[in-house]
Amino acid sequence: MRFIDLRSDTATRPTSGMRDAIARAEVGDEQKREDPTVNELERRAATLVGQQEAVFLPTATMANQIALRILSEPGDELLADAWSHLFLNELGGPAVHSGLVMRPLAAAAGRFDAGQVREAVWDRRDTHRPITRLLSIENTNNSAGGRIWPVDEIAAVAEACRELDLRLHMDGARLMNASVGSGVPAAEIGRHFDPLTLCLSKGLGCPLGALVAGSSERMAKARRLKHLFGGAMRQAGIVAAAGVYALDQHIALLADDHARAGRLAEGWHAAGLPVDLEGVQTNFVQLDVEPLGLSKWDVIAALKEAGVGVSNTVHPTRLRAVTHLDVSDEDIEQAIELAPEALAARV
Ligand SMILES: Cc1ncc(COP(=O)(O)O)c(C=O)c1O
Repeated sequence: MRFIDLRSDTATRPTSGMRDAIARAEVGDEQKREDPTVNELERRAATLVGQQEAVFLPTATMANQIALRILSEPGDELLADAWSHLFLNELGGPAVHSGLVMRPLAAAAGRFDAGQVREAVWDRRDTHRPITRLLSIENTNNSAGGRIWPVDEIAAVAEACRELDLRLHMDGARLMNASVGSGVPAAEIGRHFDPLTLCLSKGLGCPLGALVAGSSERMAKARRLKHLFGGAMRQAGIVAAAGVYALDQHIALLADDHARAGRLAEGWHAAGLPVDLEGVQTNFVQLDVEPLGLSKWDVIAALKEAGVGVSNTVHPTRLRAVTHLDVSDEDIEQAIELAPEALAARV
C-alpha cells in the first residue's frame, strides 16, 4: 500500500531533473565566495524577492535567527504572531541567539493589523521597558493553515513600522506559495521587508536550503553571522544546484499543489468531514476533529493505518494535510476515498 504523505511539504524527495542538476553542479569554496552555483542561486533569489542580495543557508530556522540578530541588540523586544514558527518552533531561538524579549501578538488567521502594532510598542522614553525594536510576520502562515497575508495589509503594517521606527522581517519560508496563491509577484511582497527568509526545502522541493535576503548592508552582516552560527559551507553548490533548478522549474508547479489542496478539501467536505473550506488558500487543508468526537491522535493513527499521513497543529482540535510535489492527482482521489472510510470505522 502506498503511503500518501500529507504531513508536510517538507516530505518531498528530489525529482530526477533535480538530481541531474545536482550531479552536474559546478562547485567551489563557498566560504571564499568561489562557488559559482551558490553565487548564481543567491543572485536569482535576491531578484526574485525584490532585494539587493541574498545569502544561502542550510535551513529557514537559521535564516530567521540570523535575520533577527542583524536587526537587534540584546534586551530589545520582538513582536510576532503568538503562533508563529519563530515563537513556537524555534526553541526560544530569538532569546537564546539574540537576547530578545519575545512578545506575542494575538492574530486572526495568522495576521495582526497596524493598529495592534501601534498599541503594542512601548514608549521609548520609559526606561523601565525594553525597546520594541522589531516585528516579524509569517507568510504564508503555517499555524493558520497556509493562509496568505494580503499585500495591502503588509503595506499598512510596514507603514506603521516606518512611523514607529520598527524593523520588519518576514518569515517567508512559504513566500512563493503566497505569491502564486495571490498572484502578486514575490518581489512586490518582498520589497516591504529587510530582511526576509525564503525556504527551498518546502513546496519548492529541495532536499535542504534557505536564503536570507535584504539590503547589501544587512547581508554583509548576515555573511558574518553565517560563519558565527556555523552555517558557512564549502562546496555547497552541490545543494545550491537544487535551489537553482527549483526556482526555474518548481515555482509554477505550486499552483498544482494549491489546486490539489482545494480538491482534497472539497472531496473531504462532500464526504462529511469537518474541513475548513474557506481557509484553503494555498497547499494546506485543515481538518477539525472536534465534531468527529475523536482525539487528534486517534485521527492521525486511523488515517495512518489507512495509508494517509496528516499531522498535528498548534490548534487544540485541528489537524492538517499538506500537498506538495510528491503528491499526485491520483493520491488526492485516493485520500478522498480512504480518509472518510477510515474515520467512519472509528466513530
Ligand atoms: C513558517 C516556517 N518558518 C520556518 C521554518 C523552518 O524551516 P527549517 O525546518 O527548514 O529550518 C518552517 C518549517 O516548517 C516553517 O513552517
